[in-house]
Amino acid sequence: MQVQIFQNKEALHRAVAERIIAEVKQNPQSVLGLSTGSSPIDTYANLVRDHQTQGTDYSRVRTFNLDEYVGLPGSHPQSYRYFMNEHLFHHLNIPMENTYVPSGIGDLEKECEAYENEIKRQGGIDLQLLGIGTNGHIGFNEPGTPLDSRTHVTRLLQETITANARFFSTVEEVPTEAVTMGIQTIMEARQIVLLAYGSKKAATIRDAVRRPVTENVPASVLQHHPDVALYLDEEAAALL
Ligand code: GLP
Repeated sequence: MQVQIFQNKEALHRAVAERIIAEVKQNPQSVLGLSTGSSPIDTYANLVRDHQTQGTDYSRVRTFNLDEYVGLPGSHPQSYRYFMNEHLFHHLNIPMENTYVPSGIGDLEKECEAYENEIKRQGGIDLQLLGIGTNGHIGFNEPGTPLDSRTHVTRLLQETITANARFFSTVEEVPTEAVTMGIQTIMEARQIVLLAYGSKKAATIRDAVRRPVTENVPASVLQHHPDVALYLDEEAAALL
């Protein structure tokens, strides 16, 4: 695992954005794996600014998001589809049909299988961007998820529901299930970039990086990936 530590969040977001931009410039048909949560918001803002000022071209890029809440249509402001449209897709020249986010409504089993097939059909993910939950989850792969899992429907743990309630008016509104790429799906990406900042993530980062690989800390499996880079601020790296 390659670890890069930045003095502040701004420098961290700039570096992650530069990494993504370099990937897109080197391969204009890149397949990007994208994530949601608060962590990547400013990274996406950097991508948008670069597109507007430098004209980086996304017309042939394809994107696959990690996850989506079950029961929320893409028009719901707390759905991850809506989040991606607002923070990124609507501000780039990427054709909307090239942006894939799992559907949280309809026949979910079928949707999961179709999502896996589409990733394969597009040639696999070149660069996967990840955040990390305070319990070590990646995507919505909660502690205990089998390391060989593929895109599936998962029940969210109470701690995740509580953590994500900050985006909803009440905790009761937070969906209790989600569709997520599996751990194996994530591990098949050719490059992985995980970003984390703030002292709340320090213990999780230590467990993921320094402790043995375990299903109880899903992000720890990244130790087995040949090309993973962690972009951290000093607070998130404090216990390494
Ligand atoms: C959600 C997402 C994860 C994300 C995590 C961290 O649970 N499913 O993909 O990494 O939140 O969120 P934040 O970046 O807000 O700390």
